Amino acid sequence: MVNSLELSPSILGGDAANLAESVSKIEEAGLEWVHVDVMDGHFVPNLSFGPGVVKALKSRFPKMFFDTHLMLDNPNLYISAFAKAGSDLISVHVEPDYPVFETLDEIHLAGKKSGIVVNPKTPVGEAVPYLPKVDLVLVMSVQPGFGGQSFDPVALEKISALAELREEMKLSFRIEVDGGITSGNVSECISRGADTIVAGTEFFKRGEDLISAMGIRKIISGGKTR
Ligand code: DX5
Ligand code: ZN
Repeated sequence: MVNSLELSPSILGGDAANLAESVSKIEEAGLEWVHVDVMDGHFVPNLSFGPGVVKALKSRFPKMFFDTHLMLDNPNLYISAFAKAGSDLISVHVEPDYPVFETLDEIHLAGKKSGIVVNPKTPVGEAVPYLPKVDLVLVMSVQPGFGGQSFDPVALEKISALAELREEMKLSFRIEVDGGITSGNVSECISRGADTIVAGTEFFKRGEDLISAMGIRKIISGGKTR
């Protein structure tokens, strides 16, 4: 595998009235990545968190890696706000109409890692021009907007295609998969080439099962890794 295997729990799947507790649970599980789903009510039919939430969580959990998924019609207008707030990686979708190359440049100029995202109905080909520029490609395995939906197997073919392209093009971008991940389907995603796994519902309901299905570091208890 090109990259380390990471689980990036989505705080959308945690208790909305206690986001800090959700991040604590992620930290206590021995994980570093936190997936933050940002929705604008236009690109997706739902609203969620803004840069203020990232800022508050990053100042409380400075060592955690904030993996920020922007589901916005105009993500280019918010890069500086999320970069200043403390996002470590900022992913933008390929579907809306905005200057994608310039936006990826802005993310890098701000000293952050970048990602490009494809929806279930978007062919992988649409992300190809950006592959040499990005640190991560996010493959949606549900139509974005809501947690708790079922995994769409169309994502598996896309993960395989991206893993092949990564090798052919001699690149090292991460392949992340997001939506409907369970301990039952995570192994297939990993065997196809995904190295970064987003999970909301499954992590907050059955996190230990998911971590063991992934074969990653065990739950930390009493400050020690078992
Ligand atoms: C969907 C979001 C996902 C979602 C994952 O718009 O991008 O991150 O919250 O949640 P589960 O794991 O519940 O599908
Ligand atoms: Zn997401």
